[in-house]
Amino acid sequence: MFETLQPAPADAILKLIAESKADDRPEKVDLGIGVYFTEDGRTPVLDVVKRAEQRLFDMQQTKAYLGTAGSPDFNAAMQQQTFATSAFDDRLVTVQAPGGSGSLRVAAGLIARAWPDAVVWASEPTWANHIPLLGGAGLELKPYPYYDTDKHVIDVAAMVAALKTASEGDIVLLHACCHNPSGIDPSEDEWRAIADVIVERKLIPFIDMAYQGFANDLDTDAFAIRHMAERVDEMIVCNSCSKNFGLYRDRVGSMSVLCRDTASRDIVASQLSSIARTLYSMPPDHGAAVVSIILTDAALRADWILELNEMRDRLKNMRALLNDALKEKAPEHDFSHLVRATGMFCFLGISAAQIERLKKDYSVYMVGSSRINVAGITPANVNYLAESIAATL
Ligand code: LMR
Repeated sequence: MFETLQPAPADAILKLIAESKADDRPEKVDLGIGVYFTEDGRTPVLDVVKRAEQRLFDMQQTKAYLGTAGSPDFNAAMQQQTFATSAFDDRLVTVQAPGGSGSLRVAAGLIARAWPDAVVWASEPTWANHIPLLGGAGLELKPYPYYDTDKHVIDVAAMVAALKTASEGDIVLLHACCHNPSGIDPSEDEWRAIADVIVERKLIPFIDMAYQGFANDLDTDAFAIRHMAERVDEMIVCNSCSKNFGLYRDRVGSMSVLCRDTASRDIVASQLSSIARTLYSMPPDHGAAVVSIILTDAALRADWILELNEMRDRLKNMRALLNDALKEKAPEHDFSHLVRATGMFCFLGISAAQIERLKKDYSVYMVGSSRINVAGITPANVNYLAESIAATL
């Protein structure tokens, strides 16, 4: 039977892990997959996570099944962190899911059951896995213009014009903050304009928040979600705890659905339970239990925010360092968008041939779109990186 299969194409981001691992040149700079690195190249377990894990180890009495929606404590804590109000409690359901990708897949299942003809509009470009993940679940996707690759800004006018052509009930996939791959987010005024067209055309916001706390702070980064929640009847939000808690491999995520009323909320909750049951039955518990301990303990939460701020500030500093180094090594080129972007990513804006040359001749790894993960930059490698980029320009 399996001889009928052809090899599946490698995932553009994941294949870089193997390529970079196989390269043992000491000058290697890995700007590929989006994981956080410290200045000495580690992706550490957060101190606050270690403490919560110890507490969990000491107090956990059973590992019996929790149910398709996961931990109610985790779900309540994530809902609070996302919406910061109980005003929507009677219209809102939040369930745990296996990571941000798992939550997106559950959301796709819900959309396919509720609006089989709906089109999901996604930014051009968007996270490389959005398209196969949502498309693979049977959804039809259409791009809306987002990133102006010449000016390195968002073309909000073009985005709004495209959304004006959407049909009632279409879904608009948005990145709450730290747009992946461009790192360029709408301003609050631009979010208001995007919400205007969503309300006017009766569209449904579907917001992916994988980097809460990596752009500004936890509240500012949730602006788009909280603003839309005030204005729309229905909305889907997917959260990931991979980056802001450093729990990548523990697969911790949640999804929230804002419904028209309580009756609809209860129906959606039952559908989410049935979707989870058919996909993976129940989400993994460990990481979510850790997040729940941290978010519900004032002292641990405060310490987590300090660690989160430290990660965010390092990323910001590395953007500035690379921009300064490039100003010196390639003065005829403008890379100032590096410091306008937030979170882990931005585009260098170089060609496929230049990306290939950086990999082959300089051991510098980045995604084929020229997306770089700025967490791979350190004070020790920034000059080498800037020189290598300058040499290929
Ligand atoms: C990325 O964009 O690099 C991360 O979100 C990791 C992934 O799974 O693609």
